[in-house]
Amino acid sequence: MSDLAETPRLVQPTAALRDSFLTGERADCLAEGRSTEWLAPAVEDFDAFVAERRGVFLRWGVPCTGFWYVAGQDYLGMLIIRHRLTPELAEVGGHVGYHVVTPWRRRGHATRMLSAGLLECRRLGLDRVLLTCGRDNEASRRVILANGGVLDRPHGDEDRFWITLDEGPGTA
Ligand SMILES: CC(C)(COP(=O)(O)OP(=O)(O)OC[C@H]1O[C@@H](n2cnc3c(N)ncnc32)[C@H](O)[C@@H]1OP(=O)(O)O)[C@@H](O)C(=O)NCCC(=O)NCCS
Repeated sequence: MSDLAETPRLVQPTAALRDSFLTGERADCLAEGRSTEWLAPAVEDFDAFVAERRGVFLRWGVPCTGFWYVAGQDYLGMLIIRHRLTPELAEVGGHVGYHVVTPWRRRGHATRMLSAGLLECRRLGLDRVLLTCGRDNEASRRVILANGGVLDRPHGDEDRFWITLDEGPGTA
């Protein structure tokens, strides 16, 4: 399943993973034919790039927390939690977004990363989370379903799923 020496986990973005992050994200952009321009600030000043992504930050008009999924020195992908929904996010975007960089795909990482992300959602006090994914995104659809996603009404080309979170320890 995996040739990783360590079990992957979600961590705060860290400057220690500069090379692995840039290698993985660049490979992802190239594989998908996307520009690497968004990585320019990271190349220029990685410490500042990381600092902007640690802790709670504002994006899409809501507080967000970002995590990197890492195994030892290997950066595998990232997951972002939007602490609440706007009317727009309630249609497209939802509470959680994620990606696994191309070199690490199809090894079950996204399925396990979302599972770990749902625990973080619980810690943030969410009872249920919305995820949306393009109707043709079979991989993401499977990731969501494997984590208990229940299909709600669609929005355009986007399918919308709710995941009800288990009560965490000590909340009974
Ligand atoms: C979606 C994504 C996160 C999946 O990452 P991954 O680590 O490859 O996912 P997993 O290995 O956990 O695979 C999950 C399931 O999808 C299947 N799968 C993976 N890639 C697939 C593909 N390209 N086509 C069809 N099925 C695929 C796997 O076989 C697995 O199926 P199973 O649960 O029935 O065994 C990754 O493809 C990605 O980052 N895509 C671009 C960003 C994106 O779409 N993010 C989600 C936005 S909603």
